[in-house]
Amino acid sequence: MGRNLSFEIFRYNPNQPTRPPRMQPYQLKETPGMTLYVALNQIREELDPSLMFDFVCRAGVCGSCAMIVNGIQRMACRTLTKDLLSHIRLMPLPVFKLIGDLSVDTGVWFKALNTRISSWIHTDLPFDPKKTEQPMSNRETMAIYEAERCIECGICIASCGTVLTRKTFLGAAGLNHIGRLLLDPRDQRKPRQYLDLIGTDEGIFCCFEMMACEDNCPLGLPLDVQMEFVRRKLGFIV
Ligand code: FES
Repeated sequence: MGRNLSFEIFRYNPNQPTRPPRMQPYQLKETPGMTLYVALNQIREELDPSLMFDFVCRAGVCGSCAMIVNGIQRMACRTLTKDLLSHIRLMPLPVFKLIGDLSVDTGVWFKALNTRISSWIHTDLPFDPKKTEQPMSNRETMAIYEAERCIECGICIASCGTVLTRKTFLGAAGLNHIGRLLLDPRDQRKPRQYLDLIGTDEGIFCCFEMMACEDNCPLGLPLDVQMEFVRRKLGFIV
């Protein structure tokens, strides 16, 4: 027999500013294997079609369903209700633009970040579609793959005490991506070319090592190790 779950969900539609933000209660019966995503869908289908939240893949791949669950940043589709208390409080991620209720726009934030760090391979080699691919060692590939697993869910950013007070901080996602580019033998940029970008108090010196980014990363990315790698590459530690 499933538990009775009581939800308290943040409600606010920026397009209806006359209705102030509020917490709305919902009751639901827990079913075997229920994830938060399933619960939210059931609430929307059976109790309240106006509830806004994001999802695409339902499999922990797209990163759309991140939210704050009982005070901790998590992905709804990877969170089983059986692992939570029967009272569940849901809030949208901070930092990102609120679309409504639990739905936020991480895309604008990440687009600005990727533009800021020029997050593509920089090379002088002319494009030749007939040329064979540039070979890489297994070791290089695996190191890049580890950083490349980031799905830009925004959890590391929304968990970061520094980002909450300094919105221009690149955050773990930005520094992780720079580390990924520094590892890539195809990118011809030298570490010193990143100095202006990350050798400042908006870059690597902004991190206070509170490590909520790594603690909450749903993919378990070694963000702390990656930031140390970036510091080392730029000669800030030896
Ligand atoms: S819906 Fe894609 S990660 Fe949750």
